[in-house]
Amino acid sequence: MEHQTHSILFKGQQLHFIDTMNRSQGQTAPGTVVLIHGFPERGSIFSRQIKALGNRYRLIIPDLPGSGSSAYNARLSSTTDFAIGIKAILESLAIDEAVLIGHSMGGYIALAFADKYPAATLGLGLLHSTAYADSEQKKANRLKAIQTMEQYGGPAFLKSMIPALFGRRFKAEQGEFIEALTQAGQNFETSALQQYYQIMHDRADRTSVFKSLSIPYLFLSGTEDQAAPAGDLIAQSAIPDVAMIDVLEGAGHMGFIEQPEAVNALLIEFLSLIDTVLSKDAR
Ligand code: MLT
Repeated sequence: MEHQTHSILFKGQQLHFIDTMNRSQGQTAPGTVVLIHGFPERGSIFSRQIKALGNRYRLIIPDLPGSGSSAYNARLSSTTDFAIGIKAILESLAIDEAVLIGHSMGGYIALAFADKYPAATLGLGLLHSTAYADSEQKKANRLKAIQTMEQYGGPAFLKSMIPALFGRRFKAEQGEFIEALTQAGQNFETSALQQYYQIMHDRADRTSVFKSLSIPYLFLSGTEDQAAPAGDLIAQSAIPDVAMIDVLEGAGHMGFIEQPEAVNALLIEFLSLIDTVLSKDAR
């Protein structure tokens, strides 16, 4: 299924996104779901979710600044700045509210969006992501990685980093996919990859959002996810009033690719829960 891609000018650079609603055919707007990709990916990484959800929901899927077709933007310096870009896309489409679902770094940006625009956030899904800030060790690793990228170039850094995102089973069975993703990683500008590491390093703990914003939350991890360990997400899922959590057996950090059927079913369940909550609130 080919989807229309669009772009807006955001802080001086083109910001591209997929919109699954076919405006030319005069479709009426279903609920909007924003899918935000992680590091170092692009919007089309969600192709399996577009297939499963694209007919039920209006999916807005950006290529974050510096990824895919969207240019690197030196004027952005925080996860909040990236969230402002997402809001600008929604405003360009006259969309007032949406469910935000972010994978890993995309989850950090989704949380920044919820923090800044609570009234525009109907639900929040964290796929292999966390509201905790980086630990001191992780912060030190980020700064070291930024230096390594300076020395050897960002794409070289990705060669070792990307395979480590996947669980053992997927690595054994789908080596070609990982190879293709690693190849695609070679197109990134080093400054974009360094910017991502810097904003992830700088981001604050956002667990307070779970209490201050009473909406449904979804947490997803995998038993082999090193970057967003299941234990952290289980602990966080106890904070909000309404939360769903799943830990995928044998999945690494990329469950929506490693086990798409399970993740798509979970997303549909989560989005139906939000629809139910909203229709109750409307009564
Ligand atoms: C991602 O998948 O976006 C990154 O692994 C996130 C991170 O490094 O924290």
